[in-house]
Amino acid sequence: MFARLPDLKERAVVRLTVDGRAIEARAGESVAAALLLSGVLVVRTTPVSGAPRGPFCMMGVCFDCLVSIDGEPNRQACMVTVRDGMQVERMQGARKVDP
Ligand code: FES
Repeated sequence: MFARLPDLKERAVVRLTVDGRAIEARAGESVAAALLLSGVLVVRTTPVSGAPRGPFCMMGVCFDCLVSIDGEPNRQACMVTVRDGMQVERMQGARKVDP
């Protein structure tokens, strides 16, 4: 569904985990882009109804991309750049999504 632009394919590979699963991204990509490119479309559920949410605006407006990054919850994945060793976890309401 999502594809990396050709000029980004030549950037350095960055390795991170999503719910303990290893994925690869490219230097300079946002966490949200890395998630979408790896097939992770739902990154959290809403606290009230449990509705699934995934990155939408990709510019820090909608807050549908909230994830836990290195143990810190409610980070906007579209506003954080990937780095080697980063640990990303999807969230369920205010908590992490069970894998
Ligand atoms: S995708 Fe909208 S705030 Fe991150």
